[in-house]
Amino acid sequence: MLIKVPKKSDISENMVTDQNVYQDRRNILKSMGFFSASALLASPSAKAIDWFSKKEKVFETAPLTHNKAPSFSTDETLTPEQKVISHNNFYEFGTSKSDPIENAQEFKVDPWSMTIEGLVENPITLGYDDLLSSFPLEERIYRLRCVEAWSMVIPWNGFPLASLLNKAKPLGSAKYVAFETLYDPKQMPGQRSRFVGGGIDYPYVEGLRLDEAMHPLTLMSVGLYGKTLPAQNGAPIRLVVPWKYGFKSIKSVVKIKLTDRKPPTTWNILAPREYGFYANVNPKVDHPRWSQARERRITTGGLFSQNRIPTLPFNGYEEVADLYKDLNLRRNY
Ligand code: MTE
Repeated sequence: MLIKVPKKSDISENMVTDQNVYQDRRNILKSMGFFSASALLASPSAKAIDWFSKKEKVFETAPLTHNKAPSFSTDETLTPEQKVISHNNFYEFGTSKSDPIENAQEFKVDPWSMTIEGLVENPITLGYDDLLSSFPLEERIYRLRCVEAWSMVIPWNGFPLASLLNKAKPLGSAKYVAFETLYDPKQMPGQRSRFVGGGIDYPYVEGLRLDEAMHPLTLMSVGLYGKTLPAQNGAPIRLVVPWKYGFKSIKSVVKIKLTDRKPPTTWNILAPREYGFYANVNPKVDHPRWSQARERRITTGGLFSQNRIPTLPFNGYEEVADLYKDLNLRRNY
């Protein structure tokens, strides 16, 4: 039997997301006929308790060995770990910010299998241990800017996606990289019900141009704060593209496929006028329903703290600007 045990650490989404944005995204889901059951009813379990053994089932993370000095850093205040792991977007586990930590505690990541396939000379399959041991792990402190106008500063652990792709040896015909999240409705309540999962056609898919994927900033993350990823942050492996809105950073990846065609992407399929393929952070191109000029930085501020700061082009990672010199960024949002 599962019972709800609210945690003191639970923070509600509207404490950290602009009220209008928070309300707007939910209104659009509602108008499409989708709404998280967990936002209406008590959600099934916080930490799932096995009532007979009285043991809490908690997703376990483990310390990682990584280069101590961060290879990318910033002097901005880090978002506290507790906020990074309790304010999440992972619709496979529900659409509220507190759903993933509540519903992902029993997510199984070992064994895992991630394939690199398609237009490559050397297709690869990596198991759980390979993900953690095939490449030297770096620490990279990146800003994460969500399209909903909140942001965090997160110390990730991982390796460049380029290292992985180079091992698979992309063919000359490869132009894009397609990513896919695990499809496992037994484990992911959002994949079992269109109401819980926000009306997305799962599996969640994402894509990058090959040159974006090969850029040194593009990271495959297997951890944060020096430990393996919590389930709600995309265990055991996720993408992190710091100059793009957070929805590009797909979680719990099982397939990476090199292609010659632009791959479909989840949010673009759902609302093409609102979410483009590129999704580069751009304060000058507003979301059709809200401004992208500023963001609310989630740091140590309390409930009423504003922490509103200007949003920077490419989220401050101007070194990627060259990738788009021939592209109209207003049209290619
Ligand atoms: N990946 C999958 N598979 N499912 C999702 O719902 N949400 C995206 C992205 N990756 C999402 C996903 C969005 S909208 C954001 S902002 C980031 O994950 C949030 O990452 P975080 O929860 O670690 O902060």
